[in-house]
This record gives sequence, structure tokens and C-alpha cells, in this order.
Amino acid sequence: MYRSMGIPKRQDPQIKIVTNRSVLSTTGDSKYLPELAKRLQNTSVSVIKEMMYLGAQEQALGKSIVSLGVGLPFYPAPKHIHDHVKKILDEKPDIDKYTLLIGLPTLRKIVADISRKSLGFPVSIDEILITPGSMAALFYSLLALVNPGDEVILPSPYFSSNAEQVSIAEGIVIPVPMIEDKTVGFRLNVPAIKKAISPKTKAIVINNPQNPSGAVYVKEDLKELADILAGTNIYVITDEVYDYLIYDKSECFNIASIQKLWPKVIRCASLSKKYGMMGWRIGYLHTNRDLLMNILKIHDANIVCAPHISQEAAIAALTGPQDIVKHHVEWLAENRDAICKRLDNLPDLFSYVPPKGAYYVFPKYNLNINSIEMAKKLLYEAGVVTVPGIGFGPDGEYHLRMSFGSSVSDINNAFDRIEKLWEKQ
Ligand SMILES: Cc1ncc(COP(=O)(O)O)c(C=O)c1O
Repeated sequence: MYRSMGIPKRQDPQIKIVTNRSVLSTTGDSKYLPELAKRLQNTSVSVIKEMMYLGAQEQALGKSIVSLGVGLPFYPAPKHIHDHVKKILDEKPDIDKYTLLIGLPTLRKIVADISRKSLGFPVSIDEILITPGSMAALFYSLLALVNPGDEVILPSPYFSSNAEQVSIAEGIVIPVPMIEDKTVGFRLNVPAIKKAISPKTKAIVINNPQNPSGAVYVKEDLKELADILAGTNIYVITDEVYDYLIYDKSECFNIASIQKLWPKVIRCASLSKKYGMMGWRIGYLHTNRDLLMNILKIHDANIVCAPHISQEAAIAALTGPQDIVKHHVEWLAENRDAICKRLDNLPDLFSYVPPKGAYYVFPKYNLNINSIEMAKKLLYEAGVVTVPGIGFGPDGEYHLRMSFGSSVSDINNAFDRIEKLWEKQ
């Protein structure tokens, strides 16, 4: 089966094996830890968090810093969620206790119903695990599937934490460059993915809309990819954190809705961004029941259950008014237009593909320094936090990730500073 699909040789020059991601400053020193587990030796704190840390250090020194770094939307969770939680704290006698390992049955039923509606086929409550955010769901998925030396394909540039998760599972990241198309946007390179598949390929992570590129994958590309993956042993792990956040009336097609890929699909979803609930740490995992029962071993050994109060908050979010989500998208669309306008004003410095989803833009810059140097330059000389593209894999070099989740005034403030610095170059 694999052979007929043309297995690439590992020395294929098109495939870059990532063994060590660049880090800025926070890599743990192992001087006092001679026995540090191997799985951590090739793993870093994500470059996104590192830039947050460096920005906070500057602020602590009294410097004025504006951040396009971390992927936080500016809006809080809607009031009705807070009100529900206050009521539950007063009225639910067991709120301080653990829930069932797998999550509150009411919440799992709500998630199963939502999943059935969005995928278009039946979803059983037994296929749903409530997790502390989608990050946990992604990590559980990779820990459950990957043996040392197994390969995981990440369309590249990729979400940095996925690479760290693969590393901790002692797997190998296989970055497959996306096509940076100025008109269509970042696109999956399906023939290159096909070529990257080997007998060791365990999974591919499809993050759509994508962090860091703002890509919304083309439906035909996803269908073509599904044709290649169906019938193989490769799991499709979908990261659906930004599935609600699409601009210009584009369509976000979920590859998990292609039924022939099941049961080898794991969906990782989250309420973090959609409802402004990042700190509540709540999301869910959807997969076949047999795998889910095994994933429970990791969940049990890790956290026992997602926070009970956050599960209650999730019930309020998913069953309450949904208009607010539409407003969140409208507000972020204004931010997207604002950042694109400012990037357009600097054509000699930046070239970029307008994002179609999520709240990230991934411009290439026109300076002959690497992306860590560039991000540090903007931080230390302009007081602007961005994230160096190399943190998102080798194909991210010479780019910066800019988040436009904050506010139009932050975006303008950051670009006033960048323009001033650029004038001096
Ligand atoms: C692509 C992607 N996946 C997962 C996550 C983690 O989300 P959660 O808060 O649900 O753990 C993020 C957060 O920024 C993200 O950008």
C-alpha cells in the first residue's frame, strides 16, 4: 500500500528533519540535571511564550512595550457565562469535587450534538472526552499514537507547540512546506505531503484555520489529501481552535467531516478563543471510542478531569446565545484590515499573504538577518513584541508572526514604532 504511493527516502533533500528548534533564552540549563530525560533534550518552551517572557522582562525594566506576540483575543468571556458560574458556585453542592474522568455527561452530550451537526454524521457521547483546553487534547493524541522514532507530518510553517509535543513523545517532526500563494493564500502542498509519507508516519496534524499563517485550507486540497490518507494507518489530528474565525465569507472545510477517514481521526477543539475563555482551560477531544478509552489512561495520570467549574462554564457557553461569536469575528476582521493596511504601508520591508482566518499574519521581511535577530531588533529597538518565524519550523525563517487579536490602537501603536525604526535603517 505505502510502496505503491512512493515512499520518499529519508535523505530526500526536500524533507528537512527538525531535531532542534532555535530558542531565545529560556531553555533550561541541564548543568544540575545530568539525568534529564532524553525527551526534553530536543524540546523547548514554545518561542511564542519565550517572546512573552522577554517582553515582560523589558516591561519590568520600565520600558514601554506593545505586543503583537501572544495569540490572545482582546474580548473577555461574555457576561452570561460569568453569571452562570456565580450561580453554580452558590447552588451546586458538588462543584468543588472532581467530575467523572471523561467529563460531565451533560457537557459531553452537548458537544456530541454540536459535533454531529457540524460533521454531518452521528457522534456518540462515548467518543467525547472533555479536556483542559485543546492543547491537552493535541498532546494526548500524540502521546497515544507516537512511539520513539515515529514520524508526524506538520504542514509548515506549523503551530510551534505541535513540534514540542511530538518531541516529548520522542517522535520526529516532518515539516512539509506549504505553498505561499499571494492570491489564494498559504496552501497545503498535497503532492509534497504524499511524498513525505513513510512507513513510520503515524499522524498528520491539520490546523485549520492555521496558526501562524492565517491560512484557511482549500477544500479541494483537503479532499485530495483525504483520498491519499484514507485506507492508510495514518491518523488525522485536527486542531479546530479557530474554526469559527474566518474572514471574507470564505468557507472553512473540516477534513474530519470526510467520513471515510474515520475511525482514524482525532478532533481537538477548544472554547478558548471562540468565547474568550483561554484561562478557563476547557476544550474537548473527539475520536473513536477504543482510542478514547486508551487516551483516558493519559488523562487520568495527568489531571484526572478538566476543571469542574470550567466544564460548567462550557455548558453555559455552548448552550447560551451565540450572537457574541459573530461579534468576535466582526471585531477581529476590523483588526485584520487594520494590520493589513499598516503592512501595505511598508512594502519595502514586508511582503505578506492576507490572512483568511485566525488572527495571525505571517509577513516575510526584507532585511538580511535571521528571524530571531529581527524579533529581538523590534523588541529592543522599537518596543514591539512579535514572534520569530523560525519558531514555526524551518519554512518560517525570515518571517515574523504578528497577532492581531489585541486592539486596533495596539496595532497602530506597534506599526508607528516599526515605521519609525525602519526610517532610521
Ligand atoms: C493552533 C492552536 N492550537 C491550540 C492552541 C491551544 O488552545 P487551548 O487554549 O484550547 O489549549 C492554540 C492557542 O493559541 C493554538 O493557536
